[in-house]
Amino acid sequence: MSGIAVFGAQWGDEGKGRFVDFLADEADVVIRYQGGNNAGHTIIVDDITYKLHLIPAGSLYDAKPCVIGNGVVIDPGALLDEIDGLAEQGTTIKNFMISDRAHMVMPYHKLMDGLSEDNAGEAKIGTTKRGIGPCYTDKAARKGLRMCDLLSDSFADKLKIILDEKNNELTKIYGVDALSYDQILRDFMGYKEKLAPLICDTSLVCYDYYKQGKKLLFEGAQGMLLDIDFGTYPFVTSSHPTSGGVSMGTGLPPQVLTEVVGVVKAYTTRVGAGPFVTELHDEMGEFIRERGHEYGATTGRPRRCGWLDLVIVNFSVRINGITSIALSRVDTLGEIDKVKVCTGYEIDGEIVNNYPASLEDIEKATPIYREFEGWSGDISHIRDYDELPEAAKTYIEFIEEQTGVPVGMIGVGPQREQCILRQKYYV
Ligand code: IMP
Repeated sequence: MSGIAVFGAQWGDEGKGRFVDFLADEADVVIRYQGGNNAGHTIIVDDITYKLHLIPAGSLYDAKPCVIGNGVVIDPGALLDEIDGLAEQGTTIKNFMISDRAHMVMPYHKLMDGLSEDNAGEAKIGTTKRGIGPCYTDKAARKGLRMCDLLSDSFADKLKIILDEKNNELTKIYGVDALSYDQILRDFMGYKEKLAPLICDTSLVCYDYYKQGKKLLFEGAQGMLLDIDFGTYPFVTSSHPTSGGVSMGTGLPPQVLTEVVGVVKAYTTRVGAGPFVTELHDEMGEFIRERGHEYGATTGRPRRCGWLDLVIVNFSVRINGITSIALSRVDTLGEIDKVKVCTGYEIDGEIVNNYPASLEDIEKATPIYREFEGWSGDISHIRDYDELPEAAKTYIEFIEEQTGVPVGMIGVGPQREQCILRQKYYV
């Protein structure tokens, strides 16, 4: 049995989708374990660009079993749209299962996400407005509706009670019109008809795969620094995009993981608000954004760009037990004269190497940089590590030395095959 988790070691958008897609070829089953359609994974296969939000990347391999675990929050309408969109691109989703314990993102969650952001002024988080936070809030408050509720005869009654309460909040606190119960019920009965055959106890299905010694691939969404506990709270998402999230979000025991792959972008990006010590507010930041097409796959927002921050990466290594780094976007940094890497922070005259909890401390931090020679020339065709320019190898080996973790995969372009593989993953 091998269980590999692939997750983002920074603020999301590290390019997880392409590595998941790459490893999915060998895996027997691909499992999503947290987040929702706030995620956006771009995968390019044979010049066709797929943008996945809820459906695991492994679905692009014909008939590969794919699972959405209990830790994911599901907008059923968005999921059906995604399935239809893929069908239009010629990919029919087969062998796809949804946890009966997964919570549903309801229309009021999306509305409240938008309203609360619009009313937040300076405290705006910059959410994707997909209703993710309000849905996880209701889950924790024990007021959520799960996929198993959709299948139950009591769904209409449960919806009535919850919607009355939400409409009260919408009209009295936010001053907007109440949502129509009849409309929501009608829509959700339509979703039920289409989704019912896919809904099951996926914890049991995954356990069976585990017991049979299958190769499991766990696909993370967002990134470690957006984790509700270890991220830059409150500028975080509401789930656990960590290796620890795998067990909670699937129902499998923690020992299921044999390898933890942290995806690290060769520089750093962030969407939404919150501290970002190595952010570049100059032409270099602009250059990286344009060269790397750093615009959100879900919302289209420009991403904030900066140098690689090893304080963050080392924090991720420690919290998640990263055993191997997948380094993406090495090609994007090409043609830059001098490339910088942050190795520590200076806060109030002290050198700090551990990522602080307090936002005030992070905001005071000045990055300490090591400067490297850049590399030039097109590297997107390279598949053998030794053929990389010496300067790129020096950069990569510095990351390995500073983190104590091998860089096992290197992304040199967006296509499925534009990847340098330095280790074997499934044994
Ligand atoms: P939410 O997950 O929509 O509630 O947004 C909370 C924070 O997480 C915001 O800063 C978002 O921009 C960020 N976020 C959510 N999903 C992603 C993602 O897939 N990539 C990068 N940032 C994300």
